[in-house]
Amino acid sequence: MTLEGATILITGSNRGLGRTLVGAGLEVGAKKIYAAARCSADVANDDPRIVPIELDVCDPASIERARATCGDVDILINNAASLANASTYRAKALAPARTEMETNFWGLVGMCRAFAPVLEGREGSAIVNILSMGALAGIPFCGSYCASKAAAWSFTQALRLELAASGTAVVAVFPGPIATEMARPHEREGRWPAEEVARAIYEGLARGDPHIFPDPVAQSVAASYAADPWGLPTRFAGSID
Ligand SMILES: NC(=O)c1ccc[n+]([C@@H]2O[C@H](COP(=O)([O-])OP(=O)(O)OC[C@H]3O[C@@H](n4cnc5c(N)ncnc54)[C@H](OP(=O)(O)O)[C@@H]3O)[C@@H](O)[C@H]2O)c1
Repeated sequence: MTLEGATILITGSNRGLGRTLVGAGLEVGAKKIYAAARCSADVANDDPRIVPIELDVCDPASIERARATCGDVDILINNAASLANASTYRAKALAPARTEMETNFWGLVGMCRAFAPVLEGREGSAIVNILSMGALAGIPFCGSYCASKAAAWSFTQALRLELAASGTAVVAVFPGPIATEMARPHEREGRWPAEEVARAIYEGLARGDPHIFPDPVAQSVAASYAADPWGLPTRFAGSID
């Protein structure tokens, strides 16, 4: 895939991995990056190649406005996500788990539905879904988050086949722990720098990898999954308390 001269839209780009993907995208030669955030002031920037846009992936009207504004997108990176960081079965209320599903699954689906027609027929076009190693096996105390990512992974596989004829690649990214706000409660378990994760994602895209494992933990999980998919959940036993 050619990143040089591409126009990229990145959701949740005001902080964390999304923000880092904006900077790294310019480094690999993107012509324009739509930096999408719930509050566009959070992505205000002097660089003329960065175009801030307001986008709440849980709001269909907001997605529709983004689609109407960003008709020249080559690569959509679905990065925005929510993590409740709580045991789903012990949680007093399920609202945070529902927010995870709304954001990580339905938000991603909404973006794909809106932008697949924009990308269709564009040479080198791609939808890049930032999932998680939790899409492959449930992680304790993140059950509903993993369920939302597993749902997104399932959808990603189907969408890849549905869009194959249109020329749009559909890429799945399975990061391990990244040093961002989201994984702060798991700081002591070791997290990979967002800059290196972003670089590995663009390297994978440039190579045309359909699945990207952008850090050493993710790569080790991928190896475990390839060797023994049924055994992978036991690897996460006691990994988080
Ligand atoms: N951090 C990790 O260890 C880790 C591991 C595996 C996978 N991932 C995945 O990597 C991606 C980036 O995560 P991160 O670590 O950068 O998380 P983060 O620091 O918590 O950032 C999450 C981003 O998503 C945005 N967001 C949440 N709900 C949204 C909505 N409804 N509409 C638009 N934007 C919304 C947030 O915006 P606000 O500022 O407005 O809340 C924020 O910009 C996510 O898909 C995550 O699941 C992360």
